[in-house]
Amino acid sequence: MPHILLLGRFGQLGWELERTLAPIGEVTALDFPEIDLLNLIDLDEIVRTTRPDVIVNATAYTAVDQAEKAHETAMAINANAPKRLAELAQEYESALIHYSTDYVFDGDKGSPYIETDIPNPLCMYGKSKLAGEQAIEEIGGAYIIFRTSWVYSLRRDSFVTKVLDWARKQTALQIVSDQVSNPTWCRMLAEVTANVLAKAGELPTGWVKERRGLYHLAGSGFTSRLDWAKKILEFDPYPDEQVVKDLQPALTSDFPAPAQRPLYSALNCDRFTDTFSLRLPDWEEASRFAMDATG
Ligand SMILES: NC(=O)c1ccc[n+]([C@@H]2O[C@H](COP(=O)([O-])OP(=O)(O)OC[C@H]3O[C@@H](n4cnc5c(N)ncnc54)[C@H](OP(=O)(O)O)[C@@H]3O)[C@@H](O)[C@H]2O)c1
Repeated sequence: MPHILLLGRFGQLGWELERTLAPIGEVTALDFPEIDLLNLIDLDEIVRTTRPDVIVNATAYTAVDQAEKAHETAMAINANAPKRLAELAQEYESALIHYSTDYVFDGDKGSPYIETDIPNPLCMYGKSKLAGEQAIEEIGGAYIIFRTSWVYSLRRDSFVTKVLDWARKQTALQIVSDQVSNPTWCRMLAEVTANVLAKAGELPTGWVKERRGLYHLAGSGFTSRLDWAKKILEFDPYPDEQVVKDLQPALTSDFPAPAQRPLYSALNCDRFTDTFSLRLPDWEEASRFAMDATG
């Protein structure tokens, strides 16, 4: 069985990955403070001692608004650490699986983005994630970058948990209708990642190298935050707890925030499906599955 080093085990995605990767490999799973990506020597040491066949990097600096002030930290975690991981993967002949974001785009395209569209991030988080992608691509070796979007979990704060919480505290809600992308349940993203690695088999490095590159991988279809919120309330397993009576559309500009987000960042995932014969289910179906899992 391949030895898999998973970084970021307590994150939305990492928590699910620890479970979905368990049947397909020997998993060493770490997170802060056992390992601090701000300290590259930590990374060298952990890869040197574990000698993994695959490194799965689910860590990231994901505080989008805070990143506007914490440039250096965002760059260190989202760009410098992935770069070092790519170098270590090369050195130890491991495969690297890494995740990036729809926030590398400016949102001006107006139809789902494909992998060859030119990124133009509007915020520091997007810039740091793009720098991470570019560093990995430059180093080469055996790597796969999954660009995903609107990742949610039911166990850490996410858009879904926020909507459920607001609906229990407020009778009227305003949700933006001008942000559009693909909601992605972290459990399904983790399951599909494990499926890809299961196909890679006992010696994943060569297999990954043959298919190396950037792939969009997000829930199928796309929607606005407002329409997603409507589905969250509809699929709520405890609707009697809701006090909300009125759900109104709002504009992103009604809620000024330090970081500018792309308004339209839907991802076209055809390249992933064509290459791996897998897909993430429709965002609405996955939202229902996720909510059922909490009922
Ligand atoms: N969330 C989204 O909507 C979204 C959208 C598109 C793409 N993505 C990408 O998807 C991937 C997974 O995201 P996610 O939502 O699962 O992120 P997440 O929940 O924020 O998890 C990130 C993990 O990284 C850890 N981490 C942060 N700084 C670290 C450090 N210095 N050393 C070690 N670990 C550190 C975090 O620990 P702490 O919790 O202790 O900080 C956390 O466990 C990331 O690459 C992200 O950029 C996310």
